[in-house]
Amino acid sequence: MKILVIMGSPQKGNTYRATKKIEEFMQSMGSVEFEYLMLKDANLSQCRGCFVCFLKGEEYCPCKDDAPLIEQKMHDADGVIFATPVYGMNVSALMKLFVDRLSYIFHRPRFFDKKALLLSTTGALGLKEVLDYLKLVASIWGFEVSHSVGIVTPPVPVQGKQDPQNDRKLKEAAFAFYNSLQKKRHSPTLKDTLVFRAQKASFGEFGQSSPADYAYWKEKGWLSPETKYYVNVPVNPVYNALGWISEQILRRKIRKEMLK
Ligand SMILES: Cc1cc2nc3c(=O)[nH]c(=O)nc-3n(C[C@H](O)[C@H](O)[C@H](O)COP(=O)(O)O)c2cc1C
Repeated sequence: MKILVIMGSPQKGNTYRATKKIEEFMQSMGSVEFEYLMLKDANLSQCRGCFVCFLKGEEYCPCKDDAPLIEQKMHDADGVIFATPVYGMNVSALMKLFVDRLSYIFHRPRFFDKKALLLSTTGALGLKEVLDYLKLVASIWGFEVSHSVGIVTPPVPVQGKQDPQNDRKLKEAAFAFYNSLQKKRHSPTLKDTLVFRAQKASFGEFGQSSPADYAYWKEKGWLSPETKYYVNVPVNPVYNALGWISEQILRRKIRKEMLK
């Protein structure tokens, strides 16, 4: 089992140590191989906001950097741990740079056979905001989010006095992640279904005005009327019906307000 850690901390500090603990706990459960991708060491350019990746395709991005390599590493792993400290009440700048640079994946999601674990450390505040944000990113990119874990680590002067609950939380996270890696993908939630339908309405209606997205969605078969979700898993019929209705409403709105 290959696990890739996308490390958003600029140092081997609290977030790295917490991830190492998860690695230790998972090693005690079975055979897992960890790779740490330290974003601080990656050559990632700042997104220039040119929209080329969205419109033409990521291969046309003017930034020639490690983004394709990082994406490939995620494809090669069975599971990915997205780890970031809370900096300024948000994810670290390194983590945000990574998300911005790979933002084309929001339009053309691709990690449906992967599981994700989300991890954050903080001095006091911001865990919920950061973990909610990471959950949104990972799930739209296609990952099944197995678990989110946030721990409070004391600020510099009192380092060493760790909350005894932290180890328990990290162990729980390791256990949940390890178990989910053994299982098939679960059925989508209502929210997952609605996200799929919203994207289907958008990329279906915008068509050739967003050619790379349209071609990708068409090639995947996601624009076919009968396609209920990105992958072939059972979809709750009530969620599917609600999703279908929301798709029709959004299509009508797009035609009326945006494609006039
Ligand atoms: C630049 C910076 C900004 C921070 N911002 C916050 C914050 O907004 N809220 C908070 O509770 N802790 C904040 N902290 C504390 C860190 O979240 C905490 O120490 C974290 O565990 C650091 O992880 P690291 O050792 O991997 O860098 C901040 C620390 C730094 C260095």
